[in-house]
Order: sequence, then structure tokens, then C-alpha cells
Amino acid sequence: MENKIQIVVGTSNPHKVEEFNEIAQNSNIEFIPLDCKNFEPDENGKTFEENAEIKAKEACRVSNFGKYFLADDSGLCVDFLNGAPGIHSARYEKTPERRINKLLSEMKNSDKRSAHFVCALCLVDENGKVLHIEKGKVYGEIIEETRGNGGFGYDPIFLIKNLNKTMAELTRHEKNTLSHRGQALKHMIEWMSNSLN
Ligand code: IMP
Repeated sequence: MENKIQIVVGTSNPHKVEEFNEIAQNSNIEFIPLDCKNFEPDENGKTFEENAEIKAKEACRVSNFGKYFLADDSGLCVDFLNGAPGIHSARYEKTPERRINKLLSEMKNSDKRSAHFVCALCLVDENGKVLHIEKGKVYGEIIEETRGNGGFGYDPIFLIKNLNKTMAELTRHEKNTLSHRGQALKHMIEWMSNSLN
């Protein structure tokens, strides 16, 4: 494909850029990592969208190059816990194992197991102006014991009911197709392909 449109991703996690490029494979969009060690956004927004915007603007501020900057914010919302851990998903406890254990103990004896993952993506230009926001969701249920070795975070306790598989039992391709991040990114890539040059 001829020249691709480069999008700098505001994250300190190189795997996220890899995952984004897998989803963008057949498009004219290429994601590149932020080339800066001082990326420390103050995630003090009240919503996923606000935090994604804070991260995208911070990436724009600290980056040494780039025309477009994308950032995401995501998390797990559990109905029985009134949407918690939500925007606090990454900080709910110190390690992924402890986060899962805390969630399961807070849901002990509850029959209401419904939950969803949310991902918000925000794209800004080189002046930090918001160009576009996308949001993706995937619905499921919190099971009582972990299942599967794939994915990360809360994946082993998040069951996709119609597949009878947890997110940790999906292949990367399956997860990219149906996940909150995969959905939001697919729509963002479509928007970028049609609107940017
Ligand atoms: P962020 O990537 O900094 O927005 O943090 C999101 C947090 O939400 C992660 O640290 C995980 O705990 C959780 N999370 C977000 N997406 C997923 C997912 O696809 N699977 C499992 N956990 C997720």
C-alpha cells in the first residue's frame, strides 16, 4: 500500500501498538509508539472519554514528532457493583491477580453477574484539538473461578455467554474482533481512513 497515515499512540505499553497494528492491517493507517519517556498523564477524568482525551493531549504535548495522536482508556464495569471498578480498573488493586480476587470477593453470593468492558478512544491533532472520539463495549458475565490463559487483566473471569468462553479463552484474533477495544478501534480506523490525509 502507498504511504500510510501515521498515528502516534499515547501509551507506555508497546504491546498496545502491536495490537492496534494487527487490527489496522488492511487499512491505510499505521500506529507508531510515542517516542518519549516522560509520558505521565494525570488521569483525573470522571469518564473513560475524559481520560482518553487527557492521555491523547498529553501524548501530543510531550511527543517530538507526529501529526495525529491517539489514546485509549478502558475498564470493566460490573452491574452488581454499580459500575465499579470502571475508570479505576487498573488501580483497583496492586496486581492483576489481586484485582481479580478482590472483585470475586466483593461479588460473593451475588446472583447478579452481568458486566461489560468499555473502551474509549480519543484522537487529537498536532495542536491538541480533539478530532474524533469512539467508544466500544462488550457484554458478559463475571464467573466465580478463572478460566483460560490468554489475554490480560480481568479476562479470565469475563465470560462471553453465547460462546461459553472467557475472554482469556479466545484467540487474539477472536478477541480483537469482538472486544471493546477492537470494536472502538475498528470504527476509529474507518473514520480516520475517510477523514484524514
Ligand atoms: P488502561 O489500559 O490504562 O485504560 O487500563 C485499563 C484497565 O482495565 C487494565 O489495566 C485492566 O485491568 C482493565 N482492562 C481493560 N481492557 C481489558 C481487557 O481487554 N481485558 C481485561 N482487562 C481489561
